[in-house]
Amino acid sequence: MTKKWFVHNLLGWEFCNSQLNKLYRIRVIEGCLVIMEVQGSPDQPVIPLFFRGREVFITGATGFMGKVLVERLLATCPDIGCLHLLMRTKKDLTPDTRLRELKQSQVFDVLRRTSPGQLDKLRIVSGDITKPKLGLSDRSRAELENVSVVFNSAATVKLEEELSSAVETNVLSVMRLLDICDQLPNLAAWLHMSTAYCHAERSRVEERVYPPAPARPLQRIIEDAQRAGHMTPRDTKK
Ligand SMILES: NC(=O)c1ccc[n+]([C@@H]2O[C@H](COP(=O)([O-])OP(=O)(O)OC[C@H]3O[C@@H](n4cnc5c(N)ncnc54)[C@H](OP(=O)(O)O)[C@@H]3O)[C@@H](O)[C@H]2O)c1
Repeated sequence: MTKKWFVHNLLGWEFCNSQLNKLYRIRVIEGCLVIMEVQGSPDQPVIPLFFRGREVFITGATGFMGKVLVERLLATCPDIGCLHLLMRTKKDLTPDTRLRELKQSQVFDVLRRTSPGQLDKLRIVSGDITKPKLGLSDRSRAELENVSVVFNSAATVKLEEELSSAVETNVLSVMRLLDICDQLPNLAAWLHMSTAYCHAERSRVEERVYPPAPARPLQRIIEDAQRAGHMTPRDTKK
């Protein structure tokens, strides 16, 4: 099956056809839609080319999805630059200790055997997505200066999460991250990992892109959640 992905960067939309192994850039030049083949050949996969030399900032790297993402980037993109992983202290384990433990994860078994040097590209960014400015120090923010791709995978996936905490972790944190990304001079792509459990107000969810939720009801949900304090999704149905 042909796999395709689109990524929007400062140069326009890029379109990858992995069956043809080609990368195209789509731009509007003087009112005309122009599709240019950028790079790639059957012997030269395009995704590693895209990531060559790029520094990447990842939230949620210790999570189920994040670990796999980190492994895939390191394993399939040998020339990728360093990966900055946002990590908090958890259960008295500091980010440095957690990084050491992460590198020992089973998901990296093959990488540790085949290209152990790739794991040296992992860098810690101490922070917490629920804190103002993600809790990043000025030094950490400066270290992100050369990041050009950001993956946001940090989230709470507890379906019975207290509402205010869910809003803090899954909504306000995204806004904080976007504020930080606005300051990144080399940003080319921002990718948000989301969930299947969206558009909960619809009884039927189709496999298509829906327009974004209007900002006003979202703002009201946030305010209600903040006012309500301890409230779980189950309480909201009462
Ligand atoms: N799992 C799936 O099958 C699946 C499928 C499709 C989409 N998704 C979506 O992908 C995203 C990640 O899901 P997941 O299954 O990987 O979740 P997960 O295993 O629970 O991982 C959540 C990640 O977020 C981090 N995080 C949470 N709160 C944080 C905070 N305050 N500060 C810093 N980091 C924090 C966690 O770090 P700690 O280790 O410090 O807790 C962890 O790395 C979610 O949006 C989910 O809806 C998941």
